[in-house]
Amino acid sequence: MLFDTLFLIPKLLLFCTLCSSYSTQKSSSMKKAALLLFAIPFLVNLETYGQMSQEARDSISKLSQADHQLMMEKLGIESLRPGPSGNPSAPNAANKNESIATPYTSLPDPLIFDNGKPVKSEKDWKKRREEIKEHFATEVYGRMPKKIPGVDWEIIEEKDSLFGEIPARFKKLIGHVDNSSYPEIQVDIEMMMATPLEAVNPVPLIMQFSWVWPASMQRPKPTGPTWQEKMLAEGWGFAMLIPTSFQADNGAGLRAGIIGLVNKGQPRKLDDWGTLRAWGWGASRALDYFETDPTVDAKKVGIEGLSRYGKAALVAMVDESRFAIGMISSSGAGGTKIYRRVYGEQVENLASSGEYHWFTPNFIKYAGPLTPMDLPTDAHEMLALCAPRPVFISSGDPEVEGHWIDAVGMFKTTVAASPVYEFLGKEGLKTDQYPGTNVGLLDGDLVFRQHDGGHTEGPNWDYFIEFARKYLNY
Ligand code: GCU
Repeated sequence: MLFDTLFLIPKLLLFCTLCSSYSTQKSSSMKKAALLLFAIPFLVNLETYGQMSQEARDSISKLSQADHQLMMEKLGIESLRPGPSGNPSAPNAANKNESIATPYTSLPDPLIFDNGKPVKSEKDWKKRREEIKEHFATEVYGRMPKKIPGVDWEIIEEKDSLFGEIPARFKKLIGHVDNSSYPEIQVDIEMMMATPLEAVNPVPLIMQFSWVWPASMQRPKPTGPTWQEKMLAEGWGFAMLIPTSFQADNGAGLRAGIIGLVNKGQPRKLDDWGTLRAWGWGASRALDYFETDPTVDAKKVGIEGLSRYGKAALVAMVDESRFAIGMISSSGAGGTKIYRRVYGEQVENLASSGEYHWFTPNFIKYAGPLTPMDLPTDAHEMLALCAPRPVFISSGDPEVEGHWIDAVGMFKTTVAASPVYEFLGKEGLKTDQYPGTNVGLLDGDLVFRQHDGGHTEGPNWDYFIEFARKYLNY
């Protein structure tokens, strides 16, 4: 699909951004070493993907469709409403007309219990938080399994390396998941990280859910430092967690990875967790590792992700209270965009066989017979569950990024989550006026900024760092 091709670009850029950090290094032997260090793990993944034949891709799609169909049968659903197209010139293009985007007059109120009683105290909020979490567990993202096997982290490479000008201690790690309950499925979590070599004390660290993309699709080196270099320059560490190493990004993979291991290779139950929640679980396990790493201050670890990984970063923030801060970038539908909005990507798209795996099977029913209006909750309540911790909502410029992601929808979510921040004595957004491009609403603890680029978090990193300093550099 054309639109999907568009989305390859940022993924690709990320890969190239990484490569570029090596090319600015001084000594060429150092450069080669660093390049190899990073390139090898990447290329292993990339090669697998790059070498995947059309036949293999077709078979993933067929298996996903079959599992999707099975879930529909279990739900007693015969057909679903199709979602609109992401291609703006298609006859069924997704809506981008703001005047018809808001068919609802109100949203569920995060500060009112389901029984109509108001939340009056922090103690009440704790209860209400559980109520909202339960809605998301049963209807949207699925339940965390009661028992998930443990993870043993192994450092498989460790080395001092230069990132730009900055010397850092680089590590590549694998988290081996205990599969003794079902040895047919093996699950390994892949992660890379680096912390500034010169740091005297344990450092804050930002972890990203990172993309892997074919090396053959490299693009020109972007100007300026990479986000990893920016982190190190700030005196912080960075980590890159590879979500697809432990849970595939398709329905065909649901009987493998951590979801498959827990289910012993069987299909999901109707309220089982989806891929987003599984990815979030992996981020928590990475945090377990940071607690054991003397170079990291595990109380100051943040999580970031773009697009589907932005959705995952939101889920991780909610599920894992140890994350100190979050940057949720262009997460769109299924992330920080109001599900009820008729603009850009719709619930019908999310519930289709290409994306349903991100969610619990129950979610499919909101694309037929139910509608998004029937959801007992909406995205602003999910975002509110991050409170009181600081969160930065990032978007690209719709004119550049496209309207699929729905920047206004993400802004509205941020506005509607703000009362919970205020209730807890923190600061949410002070306005409900959409700011447009390059006007950051960055004063509070829940902030929003739409940069002037496309589907990337790139131009917002500097603003995020400035925001995060308040919480991480004390
Ligand atoms: C698709 C999908 C989005 C997702 C995006 C991405 O466009 O519809 O929901 O955010 O891919 O992850 O790049």
